[in-house]
Amino acid sequence: MTPQPAPINRKELLLGACRGEVLPRVPVWMMRQAGRYLPEYREIRAKHAFLEVCKTPQLAVEVSIQPFRRLGVDAIIVFSDILIPAEAMGLQLELGDAGPNLPNPVRSRSHVERLKIFDPETETGFLPEAIRRIVKSVGPDVPVLGFAGAPWTLACYMVEGKTKEGFATVKSFLYRESKVFRALLHRIAQATIPYLKAQIAAGATAVQLFDTWCGELNLQDYEDFALPAVQEIISGLGGSVPVIYYTKASQHLLPAAARSGANVLSVDWRVDLGEIRKALGPKIALQGNVDPAVLLGPPEKIRDVTLATIGSLCGHGHILNLGHGILQDTPVENAQLFVQTGQRALIQQVTTVAHVR
Ligand code: CP3
Repeated sequence: MTPQPAPINRKELLLGACRGEVLPRVPVWMMRQAGRYLPEYREIRAKHAFLEVCKTPQLAVEVSIQPFRRLGVDAIIVFSDILIPAEAMGLQLELGDAGPNLPNPVRSRSHVERLKIFDPETETGFLPEAIRRIVKSVGPDVPVLGFAGAPWTLACYMVEGKTKEGFATVKSFLYRESKVFRALLHRIAQATIPYLKAQIAAGATAVQLFDTWCGELNLQDYEDFALPAVQEIISGLGGSVPVIYYTKASQHLLPAAARSGANVLSVDWRVDLGEIRKALGPKIALQGNVDPAVLLGPPEKIRDVTLATIGSLCGHGHILNLGHGILQDTPVENAQLFVQTGQRALIQQVTTVAHVR
C-alpha cells in the first residue's frame, strides 16, 4: 500500500496558493466573512457599536473567529475596517447603520499636510493586539490575514466624506489639484506601510489591500495616481509576506494592476478567471470570484458556480473567494455550502469534470 501523504494544513495551502502552486484543493475564505449574516455577530453588535468591536481586542477576536468556528474557512481575516487608519491620521469617523461618515473631509493642501503618519502600536494597537490573540487562539496552522484600504479607495472616503454615486468630489480634486491629490495618496501610503508592518509583526500570514473603487478610474488615471501609491506600499513591505490586491469592476485595469507587485490579484465576478490567467500568466496568483449574490440562490446553483470557478484554474495559484463581500441576507447554510463545496472539490476531479463539459 502506498503511504498517504501528510494532509496539508490551512496555512500551507494559503501560502502555496499565493506562490502559484498547484495544490490538492483550493483554500477558501470570504471577504466580509465576519458580519451581519451570522446570528452570533448580530448578537455582539446588538450590545456593542461597530467601532467599539473594532477597538476592543476581546470583541474583535471573537467576531474574527466566528466564521472559522461556524464555517471552517481556511483563513481568518482580522475584524477591523479600512477607515480605521483615516481616523488615526486625524479625521473624525462615524460608522453607523447608514455606512461610514467623515464629517470633516479632506479638501485642501493644508489639510493633506496636517494628516498624521501615526504610530500603529500606540494609535491603533488594538489591531495588532487582536491579531496576536487570534494567532494564539487558533494556533500556527491557521493563516490570519491583515488588511488595509488601498490609497485611492481610502482617499475616496477621506475626500467625499461618504460613498456617493460618481465620486465627483474626489475626482475633481484629482483633476484640479493633481499635485496635492498625489501628495494625499503618498501620505496615505506612508501611513499604511507601518500600519501593515505592525499587523505582520503581530503574526499576519498575508495582507490584503482593498481597492474597491479603483474601477471608477480610467486606465491612465489609474496608472498615474492609484497604482503608484499601491506599488509604494507593496515595495515598502519588502516582500516579508504575500500581498493580495483586491480590485473591483477593474477589467480595464487588470494588466496594470498585475504590475502592482502583489502576489495575488483578487477580482470580482465580471471577469473570467481562465481568461485573466491567460492574459497575465501563471506568475500572479488569483483570488475570487463567485458573485456574492449567487449565495442567495438555490444549492445546485451555488455548487455549480463554485465548481466551475475552481475548474477555471484547476487549483493552480487560486484562492477561492467571493468577488466582493458576502451579502447581509445570505443564509448561513448557503455560505456553508460554498465553503464546503470549495474544500471538498479535489482538483483532480474538478479537472476531469471541466474536461467532460
Ligand atoms: O472581511 C472581514 O470579515 C473583515 C472585516 C471588514 C469590514 N470591512 C467589516 C465591516 C473588512 C475587510 C472591511 C473592508 C472595508 N470597509 C471596505 C473594503 C471592502 C469592501 O467591502 O468594499 C470598505 C469599502 C469599507 C468601508 C465600510 N465599512 C463600508 C462602506 C461600510 C458600510 C457598509 C456595510 O456593509 O454596512 C462599513 C461597515 C462595516 N465594515 C461592516 C462590517 C462587518 C458593517 C457594520 C455593522 O456591523 O453594522
